[in-house]
Amino acid sequence: PDRRRVLVAVDGPSGSGKSSVSREVARRSGLAYLDTGAMYRAACWAALRDGVDVTDPVAAAVVARAVTLDLSTDPDHERVAVDGVDVTAGPDGIRGERVTSAVSAFAAHPGVREELRARQRDVMDAAPDGCIAEGRDITTVVAPDADVRVLLTADADARVERRRAQVVESGSGDAVEVVDVRAGVVGRDAADSRVTSFLSAADGVVTLDSSALTFEQTVQAVLRLVREVQRAP
Ligand code: DC
Repeated sequence: PDRRRVLVAVDGPSGSGKSSVSREVARRSGLAYLDTGAMYRAACWAALRDGVDVTDPVAAAVVARAVTLDLSTDPDHERVAVDGVDVTAGPDGIRGERVTSAVSAFAAHPGVREELRARQRDVMDAAPDGCIAEGRDITTVVAPDADVRVLLTADADARVERRRAQVVESGSGDAVEVVDVRAGVVGRDAADSRVTSFLSAADGVVTLDSSALTFEQTVQAVLRLVREVQRAP
């Protein structure tokens, strides 16, 4: 092909817009898309299904190693299946309240992370034209050698508002209290940042603050970096 294969790593806190931006960049640049947060959520869903205590490091790692996870890498087709069960959407799915409140504790265990990071690297390696993967530790641990590495940030007000709009849009509730959303966003970031460092950029990682940017402007900024690599001789 006339385009170089490219690996893109995007990290950021919840509500930074990293999922929607990464998905759109994948669409426009012909890359596979990997939402690593969805992978942690899916494995956590299996643990809850099995009645496993998500704070137990050994039991959590056993589930992570045993579970069959299918994540579509087509940016136009979101689908996550756990042992053949579609868990993409709905109140009992991976974005439901049950998983959302348990996933930080589940994702904190080294045994869980080791297993899921290996699976994430396999997904990236298998993409013929390249892949954009997003999460909390992609620029630093999963793919530190990626061609393009971006830390997508946004101030707390912008992130709370985006998350609130998302909750309303997904139909999980219409009387969404901003204070509840703020507590959720800020609380989960605090828990997650004890495990992964995604609040400041590692060496060689481009920081992109999207607080004052539109969605389109943010997509364009990442796309420019991707195209530079795709077109390199
Ligand atoms: O991006 P998200 O909110 O869907 O991620 C769900 C959880 O998974 C989040 O609370 C932290 C964890 N996670 C992680 O520890 N490392 C990643 N690379 C991605 C997500």
